[in-house]
Amino acid sequence: MKDGHQDHGWHIFLKEAVAGRLLLQGTFSQPRRKDAETARKVSIRPLKLKNGFYYQFERFAGNQAFHENVPENEAADKLIETMAQYRQALIKTPESDVQLLANKKGAVAMLRGKPTGKPELREASHNRVKTYVIPEGEPVPFLVRLGVMTPDGKVVKAKYDKFRQINRFLEMASDVLPDLPRGRPLTVVDFGCGKSYLTFALYHLFAVKEGLPVRIVGLDLKADVIRECSRLAEDLGWERLSFSVGDIADYEGASAVDMVVTLHACDTATDAALLKAIAWNASVILSVPCCQHELFRQISQPVLKPMLKHGILKERFAALVTDAIRANLLETAGYRTQILEFIDLEHTPKNLLIRAVRGKQGSSEEVRKEYEAFRDFLAVSSFMEREWREWPKS
Ligand SMILES: C[S@@+](CC[C@H](N)C(=O)[O-])C[C@H]1O[C@@H](n2cnc3c(N)ncnc32)[C@H](O)[C@@H]1O
Repeated sequence: MKDGHQDHGWHIFLKEAVAGRLLLQGTFSQPRRKDAETARKVSIRPLKLKNGFYYQFERFAGNQAFHENVPENEAADKLIETMAQYRQALIKTPESDVQLLANKKGAVAMLRGKPTGKPELREASHNRVKTYVIPEGEPVPFLVRLGVMTPDGKVVKAKYDKFRQINRFLEMASDVLPDLPRGRPLTVVDFGCGKSYLTFALYHLFAVKEGLPVRIVGLDLKADVIRECSRLAEDLGWERLSFSVGDIADYEGASAVDMVVTLHACDTATDAALLKAIAWNASVILSVPCCQHELFRQISQPVLKPMLKHGILKERFAALVTDAIRANLLETAGYRTQILEFIDLEHTPKNLLIRAVRGKQGSSEEVRKEYEAFRDFLAVSSFMEREWREWPKS
């Protein structure tokens, strides 16, 4: 049972089910309002039409059924909206049947059970779903060692969220494979690797599955954690995966790096990692920032007071501004930059991933001008800009 107070969890579940084309069938029942306009039940099924992929919402009212075909990019929002009108939903995926139960106040609890989707539905979904990079049921030694899988390949229940996070990260890493140089050895650095679930996962994808001539280095401040990671890499015989103790800003362990990963590195440690990546001219950067304090202390425009007087809003606003600054500075440095949603295990707002791929998108001069206006309007000075030696001071 998931924490019923964390709405975020079921939102993410529905978004992922749609994004991964994992939703086999859904039913919403027990309407909150019993009036003529509210259907007593809504059924959902995936639908492949000539012009794309849809979800059909079938509403049952009186003796009639009404159909609406919703494009897949709108389906997750539509499902979330529908849940607000019903007390119960059953969503079937190939991995599990998930029950959503809303209480009187509208908080939604999530219950995961064994999958019961009909074999033909699963079969059909199998042909069109984007399967996990690491499928359940196939034992993967590093996940067994990290306690995410049992030796026969079952995902440990308590580690299911971690398993999904690993797969989501690997999906994003697969997407950038074409952006990495080919025909020569590659170097990847994971800054602030911590226990390194994702570093091991990346090695599994790049070196083991894709057979790339890659060297991956994990760096962290914590000597004991790094010792554990080194031991596991050695036990697995993964010779091109190594770990070092050190501070990101002082890292001198590589002279050329093709990809920089930094996942939940604290506060300005993320900026230090991005600056290193720019200095190396890395082809790809995947970065999930974390706990940003720097701008929280700086933002104070009186006109923003109605928002800033609420601590949580100020915190989120400061975090969004920080990420906007990072994304724009990366663009001015010649990166195509996107902000994507990542899975965060603590269901906090720190679930954004900055994906930057070397290669211009539009005029960096224009981006820079817009960026400067934004920065000056907010009267902020970011670590990343201050420390960026090549950034001509204006
Ligand atoms: C929240 S953990 C994230 C671990 C891992 N990347 C993940 O996403 O599961 C953040 C890690 O960043 C490390 N870290 C923070 N600041 C750092 C710095 N300046 N240099 C190196 N590591 C740092 C911490 O020691 C910690 O292990």
